[in-house]
Amino acid sequence: MPEEKLERISEAEIAVHWHEEEHYPPPAGFIGQANLTDAGIYRRFSPENFPDCFKEYADLLDWDRYWEQTLDTSNPPFWNWFVGGRLNACHNCLDRHLPRHNNKTALHFVPEPEGERIQHITYRELFVRVNEFAALLRDFAGLKRGDRVTLHMPMVAELPVTMLACARLGVIHSQVFSGFSGKSVADRVVDSESRVLITMDAYHRSGKLLDHKEKADLAVAEAQKQGQQIDKVLIWQRYAERYSSETPLQPGRDFRVNELLPKYRGRRVEPESMAAEEPLFLMYTSGTTGKPKGCQHSTGGYLAYVTGTAKYIQDLQPEDVYWCMADIGWITGHSYIVYGPLALAASAVVYEGLPTYPDAGRPWRIAAELDVNIFHTSPTAIRALRRAGPDEPAKYDYHFKHMTTVGEPIEPEVWKWYYRVVGKQEAVVVDTWWQTETGGVLSSTLPALGAMKPGSTGPAVPGVYPVIYDDAGDEIPAGSGKAGNICIRNPIPGNFQTIWKDPERYVAQYYTRYCRDRNSKDWRDWPYLTGDGAVLAEDGYYRILGRIDDVINVAGHRLGTKEIESAALTVNEVAEAAVVPVADEIKGKIPDLYVTLKPGFEKSLDLVKRIEAAVVAEIGPIARPKTVQIVPDLPKTRSGKIMRRVLAALSSDQDVGDVSTLANPEIVEAIRRMRGA
Ligand code: PRX
Repeated sequence: MPEEKLERISEAEIAVHWHEEEHYPPPAGFIGQANLTDAGIYRRFSPENFPDCFKEYADLLDWDRYWEQTLDTSNPPFWNWFVGGRLNACHNCLDRHLPRHNNKTALHFVPEPEGERIQHITYRELFVRVNEFAALLRDFAGLKRGDRVTLHMPMVAELPVTMLACARLGVIHSQVFSGFSGKSVADRVVDSESRVLITMDAYHRSGKLLDHKEKADLAVAEAQKQGQQIDKVLIWQRYAERYSSETPLQPGRDFRVNELLPKYRGRRVEPESMAAEEPLFLMYTSGTTGKPKGCQHSTGGYLAYVTGTAKYIQDLQPEDVYWCMADIGWITGHSYIVYGPLALAASAVVYEGLPTYPDAGRPWRIAAELDVNIFHTSPTAIRALRRAGPDEPAKYDYHFKHMTTVGEPIEPEVWKWYYRVVGKQEAVVVDTWWQTETGGVLSSTLPALGAMKPGSTGPAVPGVYPVIYDDAGDEIPAGSGKAGNICIRNPIPGNFQTIWKDPERYVAQYYTRYCRDRNSKDWRDWPYLTGDGAVLAEDGYYRILGRIDDVINVAGHRLGTKEIESAALTVNEVAEAAVVPVADEIKGKIPDLYVTLKPGFEKSLDLVKRIEAAVVAEIGPIARPKTVQIVPDLPKTRSGKIMRRVLAALSSDQDVGDVSTLANPEIVEAIRRMRGA
């Protein structure tokens, strides 16, 4: 990435106007049973004990060959963890559990249609399926160690089966979120040079059986245009015995997995013994500009880190039923549905569909049915459930001991609903801040040890040492009320190793901003730039303001968009809020606010005035929105993220660009008409 671009995304001294929230102690019932109740962990993982402290995580794994050196920093910023060690991720998630957990449920697959039976897949069954599919990948598709393969699979049990089969062979998987288009798949196929695409014929979403195979045809055609040939498309069947897509199969290229599998019945495949630094998978993520970056994650460092954090932060224990509602197509699903939980021999839920289908009671029915006691989701999903069914959780007899929020800053009002209504005040809540790049959690309270604080993620997790820098590279101290660019001082085992085929961009984007000496071999000179703005309170808790480029600069005062949105959400009728910058002659930029309402409320001038007043009251007149638009829905991606870029274009009367990949493209025109009215 060019230098001047870096300068532009870098912001600091962001004005912060946020009330300090109270602390909530973890419930005594949770503490009584927790994996981790010894505050000595912070001492064990203190900077003096770095990097050897991470032996504690590595020792949660089985190594074919034990490692010799904890961390090799000789080629900054390309760090290598557990050097000399060899292991296999699939062995660690399956084989090693068989002696004690053969008959334990590894995955509960919950189909979206409520009439369809839940599948309870034991560790033995998963082991058998993974081995058979690994044999097929090796002997039929010709895949071998180091090859890349693109997956475009929905939320079904066959997705972890496929990932683990790849891991068994040392094949690098690159799973693309199923909601993405054929074109997005093609871009990732081309970048990773995949010759095999693994997909599914169809899946259920929001009450419909979607034809998914058609996207594979588009992906293959587009990849071909870009010069990458797909030799084989392997298609799992949503219903094993029949093909459920309208899209024809192309002879010689398309193969139905369920038809081929009987040939591999009973086959076993030896797990490849991988060097700790050999890649386990690629996960593409969007940056501020340019094409998606293939974040390359290692086998040893990554697996050790997600296993350690799943144990201590998620508090996974043998009898728990754990449900992370994220999609496995994102990093959260990779780390905290598949690899972390299975490495700990946990029982994890994989839910196919939309959380609010057929109604907002669905997650709570699933929780009651399966006795889920650990729940993990995002603020976006929490807001959607709160909006559609604020009183639903109370109707169902489930009890969570632990809940997670991840992915974006959570507004304190929304946090309180999650804690009180979803958690019934019985569950501890952790707000885990991290990124695709970091593989696992960077900051969170330790669930039995730290008090919760709505809207704040908490202190860094053990072994992670953050620092907040201003634009000049000076450290912003705790309690100053100022925000800046949050960086991580030290290498961590979960962090990605590089951007696939683009090491220069990796260095430029993440390490040059605050690098003290580019010739230095000392990791202390190479802080990792997360790209987030953050503020550190007196009590040592971080509050993440969001991406640095999500900041609105009003008359030289930089306002976090989340702060304004949180202020709007203090008005009882408001369900969701999104704020975007709009140009203003005098002040540079001012916020423009879009909100949706909870069911049963109507828009009115009085309400607009009250929302505006709430923003002014919470933050100050500087944050007064240009307009408050009460709209029926906000433009969202298929994964539920609000598309502020589209709203910003509407606010500025600009071209919204291609909105066809949104979950609700029709809302864009509707909002434009409302604005014009
Ligand atoms: O801005 C931060 C926000 O999400 C970004 C990372 O997004 P992604 O790579 O898609 O990974 C999401 C799942 C880990 C971060 O740079 N973010 C993530 N978690 C939080 C958060 N912001 C505030 N609080 C969080 N808990």
